[in-house]
Amino acid sequence: MIEKRPFRYFLNRNHGVPGIAVLPEGGYARAKAEIMTWPGYAPTPLVALEAIGKAAGVARLHYKDEGGRFGLASFKALGGAYAVMRVLQAELAKRDVAREASSADLIERRYKEATGKITVCCATDGNHGRSVAWGAQRFGAACVIFVHETVSQGRRDAIAKYGAEIRVVPGNYDDAVREAQKQAEANSWFVVSDTSYPGYTEVPRDVMQGYRLMADEAADQIGEAPTHVFIQGGVGGVAAAVSVQMRARFGAGVKLIVAEPDKADCLLASAEAGEPVTVPGDLDTLMAGLACGEPSLLAWQELERGAFAFMSVSDESAVECMKLLAHQTPPIVAGESAVAGLAALLLAMQEPYARGALSLGPDSRVLLYGTEGATDPEVYDKLVKN
Ligand SMILES: Cc1ncc(COP(=O)(O)O)c(C=O)c1O
Repeated sequence: MIEKRPFRYFLNRNHGVPGIAVLPEGGYARAKAEIMTWPGYAPTPLVALEAIGKAAGVARLHYKDEGGRFGLASFKALGGAYAVMRVLQAELAKRDVAREASSADLIERRYKEATGKITVCCATDGNHGRSVAWGAQRFGAACVIFVHETVSQGRRDAIAKYGAEIRVVPGNYDDAVREAQKQAEANSWFVVSDTSYPGYTEVPRDVMQGYRLMADEAADQIGEAPTHVFIQGGVGGVAAAVSVQMRARFGAGVKLIVAEPDKADCLLASAEAGEPVTVPGDLDTLMAGLACGEPSLLAWQELERGAFAFMSVSDESAVECMKLLAHQTPPIVAGESAVAGLAALLLAMQEPYARGALSLGPDSRVLLYGTEGATDPEVYDKLVKN
């Protein structure tokens, strides 16, 4: 199905050790209740990949396809926009404008004088910035988005469409994160980041609480509990959210495997080191959404115990998986950053040691998260239609 190529895996020696609750249930209940009321909300489909599952040698294979999420083409729509709303609500309360503004109040511009003076900003490799810009436009705030040089023009345009100002920063994603922080301090803007670091955890916690809805929907849709869940890792936010939600719905027995690009495998490197570590360099993977060199602090606090294993795969394997999905009937459109989990599964199934170490076999029921559709259609066409 896909070629046998080198990959890495690392079993987490701390898996299952009890730890702190990074994402409290009350915060998730609030996020879920809120997001489900937004105009345009609908659960994304869970697709059974029967032929691929059979050929791979597992009992069942499901793919949660996030390509249609709120018209933004990725699960990120659930996180950044929700956090923008929370920032605005908190600011309106602090400024004595409204003690409890609702999202409907914001959408109807009930407090537009005040919200119009609030600027939210963030760094992005595409999808998070799009969500923040969309949220800012929806809820009536100004927005500045920082991108590093290799973020494609298509992705910049998709953000600018929602009225955000785009600023280009030399270096990689992590440099853009630092620049966003610096400019926010200088201008009294509000950073709405999807990654957390010491002293900055509350906003990314809201972002991750929003992501949990994706995993919650999958749990509603799937029927029998999965034995294995594969999820892509950038800074680890979505993997941590999925980890928490799978545990909440199915208990601690589900094995969570975090899949990263081999050129940006900061979570695997952190697991090996036993502490969060940064992988340097330009992180030049095709999987743009996963091109992160520094784990999110909060995400790491969950994954250091919640993840069963970490894997890294090559760009070549990812492209093969995009093509494989495009050739299903009906076709599945999966962007570059959507398929590291599928690639990790298919590679592991071809390698007896990895298969054994991960306890994968004919009885396995595997759940994958297809975290984006064609978020840059031009890049997608170039990769898949060749
Ligand atoms: C499509 C897609 N999948 C997965 C991820 C990884 O998310 P996180 O950075 O929270 O690990 C991203 C991040 O931008 C993404 O865009």
